[in-house]
Order: sequence, then structure tokens, then C-alpha cells
Amino acid sequence: MQKAESVTHIAIIMDGNGRWAQKRLLPRSAGHRKGAEKVKEIAKEADRLGVKFLTLYAFSTENWQRPKEEVDTLMGLLREYLKSDLKELHENNVRIRFIGERDMLSADIRQSMAALERQTAKNGGLTLCFAISYGSRQEIIQAVRKAAVLVKNGDISESDIDIKSFSAMLYTKDIPEPDILIRTGGEKRISNYLLWQIAYTELFFSDTPWPDFEAKELEAVIAGFNTRERRYGKVQA
Ligand code: FPP
Repeated sequence: MQKAESVTHIAIIMDGNGRWAQKRLLPRSAGHRKGAEKVKEIAKEADRLGVKFLTLYAFSTENWQRPKEEVDTLMGLLREYLKSDLKELHENNVRIRFIGERDMLSADIRQSMAALERQTAKNGGLTLCFAISYGSRQEIIQAVRKAAVLVKNGDISESDIDIKSFSAMLYTKDIPEPDILIRTGGEKRISNYLLWQIAYTELFFSDTPWPDFEAKELEAVIAGFNTRERRYGKVQA
């Protein structure tokens, strides 16, 4: 087994649900359902491998522009998921977190999210973070606004804004930067995901659509990561 000793945080863009379904002549919603089922399996595997944080892109700010029917399906799945599947993860000592613009979500979903975060706050296993109604540019803009207000009120000076203090104004303030970003589904782009946080993250692109992504592929990514040399812009000593 590949132990993820050097891997603290994995972020995933769970892409390819729609195409997975279309290929099987199923509605796109069937792909999303299958994709939601996959989350539990991969979270358990990440935990087993010793990964501490897993951040999953479940719904982007831009996804609000999909046809209403598809948005409703995704919100329905999320609602269901928050009520049932995540309970099982709680029993496995998983801590649940959410990042994104909560104001856009319906009140019952927001309440379930807050309740889950409260219930699982003391769990010491994997932190499973869902990016929901999340957009990285929007996240950066809200941080810039926060900083501007602090400067305007005289709470901090301009020169107090640096990488560390700015990072603390993002939704991910208490989450380390990802070591690995995986995008499934064959596309090679970042799609407004964790733009600030992935400055030195190792990127992996898999052709496998998310519903078919398996634990062994996660292990293979970690093995690949362990062969990479991370220099953070420096040269080797
Ligand atoms: C991309 O597939 C995936 C999404 C837009 C959302 C990801 C959602 C899930 C995995 C299910 C919901 C998750 C939870 C936790 C309830 P796509 O639809 O863009 O696929 P395509 O590129 O093949 O069209």
C-alpha cells in the first residue's frame, strides 16, 4: 500500500459525470448520482492512506448557470447526501467542512451544512471539505474587500497585507494548501478552483470520468506524487 506520508491535502475536480451518463444513454442526473456515491469510497480511501484533508469541487459558482433542471437535481442530491451519507462518514471520525458562497443556497441546505460542521467539529480523522457554490475569483474578491475594510478602519496598515495574512482571509483559512490537485474526466483546466491555494500544488489529470475513478487510481496518483521533486521555485541545495 502506498502510504500518503508526504501528502496532507488532496483537492479533486470531480469532472465527467455528465459524459459518463450520456455514454450509457442515461440522463446526466444519473451521472451525478453515481458521482455522489463515489465520494464516500474515495474519502474512505484517502483517510485509510493517511491523507488529512480532501477538498472536493461539488458545485461551482458558474454551475448556477446550468439548466434549472440540472441545478435542481444537484441540489436535491446534495440535500439527500447531507442527510444520509455524511452521517456514515461522521461515524468514521471524518470532519466535514464547506467552502463557498452559502447565501446562494436554500435555507434548509445551509442549516444542514452548519449542523454537520458542528457535529463533526471534534472528529480527528480526515477533514472532508466540500466546495459548494464555490468560485475562487469570488473568494479572492471577498478577501480583498475584507482587507480593504480593515485598512479603511485603521485596524491594519497596507503593509500588513502579505501572503500569510491574505491567506487567512480566504474560506480555506485554516486548511493547508493542497499538495495534489486531481481533475478527472479528461479536461485539463482549473475551472476557477482554489487558484490562490494551488500556487505550488502538483497537478494530475486523469481521463477517467469521476463515477469510474477508483481507490487504486488515487493510490497511483500518490505514488506519482512521491516521485516528483517539489522545489517551490528554488534550486536543489
Ligand atoms: C462535473 O461533471 C461535476 C459537477 C458539476 C458536480 C460534481 C457533483 C457530484 C460529484 C455529485 C454531487 C456531489 C455531492 C457531494 C452531493 P459534469 O456534469 O461537468 O460532467 P461533464 O463534464 O461530463 O458534463
